[in-house]
Amino acid sequence: MKKNFLVSLVYLFPAIILVLFTPISSAQLSTSENRILLQIQKLLEYPQVLQGWTNLTNFCYLPPSPSLKIVCSNSHVTELTIIGTKKKTKLVSWRSDDETLSARFSIDSFFTALTKLSNLKGLSLVSLGLWGPLPSKIKRFWSLEVLNISSNFIYGGIPQSISSMKSLRSVVLADNLFNGSVPDLRKLASLEEINLSDNKLGPEFPLLSKNLERIILRNNSIRCQIPPQLKHFDKLELFDISSNVILGNIPSFIFSLPFLKYLNLAANQLSGALPVNLSFSSVLMFVDISHNLLVGELPSCIGSKSSNRTTLYSWNCLSTRSLDDQYPSSYCQRVEALAVKPPLRRRKESKTQLGLILGIIGGAVGLLVLMVPLILCIFKKSKAEKVGSNKDISRSHKFSDHAYPRPSKNI
Ligand SMILES: *[C@@H]1O[C@H](CO)[C@@H](O)[C@H](O)[C@H]1NC(C)=O
Ligand SMILES: *[C@@H]1O[C@H](CO)[C@@H](O)[C@H](O)[C@H]1NC(C)=O
Ligand SMILES: *[C@@H]1O[C@H](CO)[C@@H](O)[C@H](O)[C@H]1NC(C)=O
Ligand SMILES: *[C@@H]1O[C@H](CO)[C@@H](O)[C@H](O)[C@H]1NC(C)=O
Ligand SMILES: *[C@@H]1O[C@H](CO)[C@@H](O)[C@H](O)[C@H]1NC(C)=O
Ligand SMILES: *[C@@H]1O[C@H](CO)[C@@H](O)[C@H](O)[C@H]1NC(C)=O
Ligand SMILES: *[C@@H]1O[C@H](CO)[C@@H](O)[C@H](O)[C@H]1NC(C)=O
Repeated sequence: MKKNFLVSLVYLFPAIILVLFTPISSAQLSTSENRILLQIQKLLEYPQVLQGWTNLTNFCYLPPSPSLKIVCSNSHVTELTIIGTKKKTKLVSWRSDDETLSARFSIDSFFTALTKLSNLKGLSLVSLGLWGPLPSKIKRFWSLEVLNISSNFIYGGIPQSISSMKSLRSVVLADNLFNGSVPDLRKLASLEEINLSDNKLGPEFPLLSKNLERIILRNNSIRCQIPPQLKHFDKLELFDISSNVILGNIPSFIFSLPFLKYLNLAANQLSGALPVNLSFSSVLMFVDISHNLLVGELPSCIGSKSSNRTTLYSWNCLSTRSLDDQYPSSYCQRVEALAVKPPLRRRKESKTQLGLILGIIGGAVGLLVLMVPLILCIFKKSKAEKVGSNKDISRSHKFSDHAYPRPSKNI
């Protein structure tokens, strides 16, 4: 008995050494994962970047390049990055052969194959022409930390199941055709970055974990006020919600979040005046509030040029020293009234500054015609929001003294 045991130990010893050094020295991929990678090559319709892959390829030893990276550990793929060349050249809402994978492509079969790489921690599939709705089986990637599927043609809603992927640290779904509401992601406590830019998501502001450091919602269809809950996002470093339809006042707290370095609120319909005594946190290095409907005086922290901070505030109705990059105050009140008021209650305009105002009216009427269906739909919502208009930034000045100014009588 004892002898047998010793003998087996002698045989075991080299085996133990081998196992200990395997992850460091040789990472031979299991044959099943080899097969999956070849299947992925086929399902992606043999893109240039995967050319030369055969059943003899040692995938774990391919030299990494900016467009292809495979990392293995214990005979499993743990990181897969494939960056293709299928660039969007024109505005498409449906697939076209030169920009997307062919009509035969099935995103469902693709993810069925892909999720068999069950040890993946990082997955980046960019500009590959993937099209179709993101299947909810994506949740099978139970240990995935980084998901980057930007610049494809993935449409429909973001699947609810993504909210069960508790390991996620970074989610980049940017530059796709996602629409509708973002599922509740408050339970993803490890999430540090979410980049949903250039989709059609909305109209609600997504429910997100307070631990996020970077929130990028640029160029979507979000139509709401800046949610007060953001006050509790005390790790936030980058916040970009530009090019949406964000309404109402800019709450002061947003300029003093402790770690916020980059704040982009440009190209929305933010209105009202900023408090003159507004103060910026010292770490805030970039602020863009341009192309909104802000009125009143420019707070000194925005106007001052002494620091290294970049502040952009053009194309509002602010009373700055040089007015050549601001609209007249009537513009902001008018557009805002169109955005949040029912069209029926609008009054007739007085005749002062007629030349200037006539031009604006022309534009506004055009806008009104375009926006009638939208306005009718928002009216119900704005009724509810009106109650909570913010008192402490309604300091009196010559332009406006109301969070939701009425159509003006005395310009
Ligand atoms: C590898 O592929 C070639 C043809 O591409 C095939 O003939 C060969 O049987 C394959 N080998 C294995 C081990 O699958
Ligand atoms: C996602 O991929 C894009 C394109 O390669 C890249 O610019 C971006 O940095 C990636 N993001 C992450 C978090 O990996
Ligand atoms: C968001 O993702 C897009 C596409 O990958 C990228 O170009 C952009 O730089 C990202 N934004 C930030 C702030 O990381
Ligand atoms: C999302 O887009 C699809 C068409 O791709 C459409 O059928 C669906 O109604 C849209 N959903 C929402 C919530 O807008
Ligand atoms: C906004 O996103 C759409 C896709 O949803 C894209 O076609 C368009 O170029 C983007 N606009 C800007 C200014 O980035
Ligand atoms: C700014 O002024 C208002 C009223 O004058 C005051 O209530 C508020 O506390 C001041 N804020 C700061 C940061 O000084
Ligand atoms: C601005 O930045 C430069 C270097 O980027 C630094 O030397 C300088 O001290 C900074 N100035 C202020 C006022 O922070």
